[in-house]
Amino acid sequence: MERTFIAIKPDGTNRGLIGEIIARFEKKGYKLVAMKAVKPSKELAETHYDALKEKPFFGPLVEFICSGLVIAMVWEGTGVVKTGRQMIGATNPLESAPGTIRGDLGIDVGRNVIHGSDAVETAEREIGIWFKPEELVDWDQTVKQWIYE
Ligand code: GTP
Ligand code: MG
Repeated sequence: MERTFIAIKPDGTNRGLIGEIIARFEKKGYKLVAMKAVKPSKELAETHYDALKEKPFFGPLVEFICSGLVIAMVWEGTGVVKTGRQMIGATNPLESAPGTIRGDLGIDVGRNVIHGSDAVETAEREIGIWFKPEELVDWDQTVKQWIYE
């Protein structure tokens, strides 16, 4: 089953949005497979955002991600990478549609509340960076017969 890496950034945790964000993924029907609270090291943040290292905002972005509590999660379900990104909304919250997490909860691109993997391969890479294999929980989502046909 497809998996994605979702992280609530330090602005989201400081603003008390953890429950709101987790609730959206839960209510959608996706299955939580792993979750932990982390204050990321610079090395972890730089590795995570490696593809952006030439961007002018890379330094501030890494500093921001390391500045406080991050809730790192793995969510599982059909189409979770693409649909997760749609639930999150566009990178710039001023352009994210109302009803999306960023569209409803943010204003500034540098404070856009949440991260979601942008492709299945990226998700596999990011899950490997943030979690050890044994931290991914094998459990039965007993309501799945009411979520999937
Ligand atoms: P993530 O889910 O966090 O990876 O966001 P994304 O995939 O929607 O965007 P992208 O991977 O291109 O950028 C990663 C993060 O860098 C964004 O979430 C923003 O917080 C930040 N970022 C992207 N573009 C800009 C920018 O033009 N200015 C600033 N200050 N930050 C940016
Ligand atoms: Mg991205």
